[in-house]
Amino acid sequence: MAQIISPSVLSCDFANIQRDVEMINQSSADWFHVDVMDGVFVPNISFGFPVVSAIKKHATKPLDVHLMIVNPDQYLEEFQKAGADLLTVHYEACTHLHRTIQEIKRLGMKAGVALNPHTPVSVLEDVIEELDLVLIMSVNPGFGGQKFIQHATTKVSKLKQLILSSGSKALIEVDGGVNLETGKMLLDAGADALVAGSFVFGSANPTQTIQDLKNL
Ligand code: DX5
Ligand code: ZN
Repeated sequence: MAQIISPSVLSCDFANIQRDVEMINQSSADWFHVDVMDGVFVPNISFGFPVVSAIKKHATKPLDVHLMIVNPDQYLEEFQKAGADLLTVHYEACTHLHRTIQEIKRLGMKAGVALNPHTPVSVLEDVIEELDLVLIMSVNPGFGGQKFIQHATTKVSKLKQLILSSGSKALIEVDGGVNLETGKMLLDAGADALVAGSFVFGSANPTQTIQDLKNL
């Protein structure tokens, strides 16, 4: 199966969000990666429900929503109503992770868990069978355009082994500093889905850049 490409709308032009959503609709991208930041879990604030709903209104592909917020349990239903198809919470933000995953699924969404660069893959051993997706952060979350942390490729390999040995169907997604070079390494290590923000929107031809990532 070809890799899933999930362009991050964090790097789009917010004054022309409909235009950029249409570009992704027309491209070979598979999902929309939607980064929600609360200024508490991460040192940045992005956007909330009205913007997620506005993207949903125009998007013809699933919304892959990445919550970088404390207390995600409080807002799961609102994100479902805003149009999230796949909802990813951070391991580091969830005291009762198993309960949170069950609740996301009960609401009819696919459930993902994100790991910060310092968090080992082994913390997911006892929930891996419940997950639809694991998001390996290859930068410290909070900002687009940061440098790729090389160790993420080792984590992808370890996670792949855990998934194979447990019989889990979870997909491996990687987020941060993805370009053609790092993307290739991640796919070779076992990644199924690549998020790319600045590499796509900072390029002269974003549609072609998405295709280049799809062709890796
Ligand atoms: C970072 C976000 C990313 C961000 C990636 O905290 O989770 O999704 O948009 O941006 P790039 O691809 O520019 O590293
Ligand atoms: Zn993200």
